[in-house]
Amino acid sequence: MPTFSFPTLIHFGPGVRKDVGAHLKAQGVERPLLVTDKGLAALPLPKELMDSVRAAGLEPALFSDIAGNPVESSVTGGVAAYRAHKADGIIGLGGGAALDVAKAIALMATHPGALFEYEDGRPDARPIVGEVPYWIALPTTAGTGSEVGRSAVISDADHIKRIVFSPKLLARAVFADPELTLALPAKVTAATGMDALTHCIEAYLAKDYHPICDGIALEGLRLAAKALPRCVEAPGDIQARSDMMMASMMGAIAFQKGLGLVHSCAHALSTVADLHHGFANGVMIDSALRFNLESSAEKFERMAQVVGLADPSGEGFLVWLRELKARIGIPAGLKAAGVDRAELDRLSKLAFQDSCHQNNPRPVQEQDFRRIYSESLA
Ligand SMILES: NC(=O)c1ccc[n+]([C@@H]2O[C@H](COP(=O)([O-])OP(=O)(O)OC[C@H]3O[C@@H](n4cnc5c(N)ncnc54)[C@H](O)[C@@H]3O)[C@@H](O)[C@H]2O)c1
Ligand SMILES: [Fe+2]
Repeated sequence: MPTFSFPTLIHFGPGVRKDVGAHLKAQGVERPLLVTDKGLAALPLPKELMDSVRAAGLEPALFSDIAGNPVESSVTGGVAAYRAHKADGIIGLGGGAALDVAKAIALMATHPGALFEYEDGRPDARPIVGEVPYWIALPTTAGTGSEVGRSAVISDADHIKRIVFSPKLLARAVFADPELTLALPAKVTAATGMDALTHCIEAYLAKDYHPICDGIALEGLRLAAKALPRCVEAPGDIQARSDMMMASMMGAIAFQKGLGLVHSCAHALSTVADLHHGFANGVMIDSALRFNLESSAEKFERMAQVVGLADPSGEGFLVWLRELKARIGIPAGLKAAGVDRAELDRLSKLAFQDSCHQNNPRPVQEQDFRRIYSESLA
């Protein structure tokens, strides 16, 4: 039977990041480790946050050795930095990459062994039973929604994305400040936004009974459909940035129900071609979703209504997705994205091995992935 759980405390709104120091102090945290990625470390944001936390009387330290699809060495480096600073809490600042590493550092700061020994679904997985340090999340992209998620997604030495999952990994509080996304470059806004949109769509289509998630997913889709092109075309529009940040959290809250085949396609593309996760979802979304059109006809019509189409048909919804991609600069398919056709076999195998499509409304076989990729590469 499904379980229903929506536990994260979310402080939401422009400027809310300024409350972080007082919040941590009230929780008894004195020496937080600020975890962010290399790209962000070169911008003013982390320093501003460090200064504001210091002004509240705390002694923060910075860890930023994270780049691209995050890997285990960032987690071990972060745990070493946590110990060296004698830290007593963690501030995750960034997109999914930094937030996932922050979660994994929190886990490994108090649990023995190696990170992937805790991998979700492994028959001999170590249990996540101990307390983890108090950690808070400040998202700087509107995409993964990792700030409200229970998973840390870290790539192994073969670039395969491994998932460590536990409700204990949830951030204890989220400070979702849309001003943090104002400086996102258009390309990152578009790619991360497509991840959020894909979460809403795939969660709604996922096969389990979960009307609460379905409602959240549809409203997230409605917000993202309007806000995403606006964020790309008018990056300083704080209302659009706010709606997109909200939609990204709604997508992640909704996908506790499950995802689907688009995410399996995207995970394989990150492994094989090191594509950014949201970008890969965006490239594949319309061609992969076509596979579900027949089996989920009513749901496609509902989504077409929700995004406000005059012709609320499933086909119309796919056309709308294609037009949205063109408008925000996401390539129409894998050929345009520069992926090599020689990778077809490996991509199909890896997508089939990925677990996300187990929640897809229609069962997917390896040959289905092959056909979907093949069309996208043509
Ligand atoms: N935990 C989950 O539930 C979950 C869900 C989906 C994806 N993921 C994972 O999240 C990762 C992707 O996260 P993402 O899409 O947020 O991208 P990201 O964290 O990789 O960030 C993308 C780029 O944007 C830069 N950036 C971030 N915020 C910025 C800002 N405000 N201004 C300027 N530049 C900024 C970063 O430095 C980076 O170069 C992947 O590893 C993916 O597997 C996790
Ligand atoms: Fe995703």
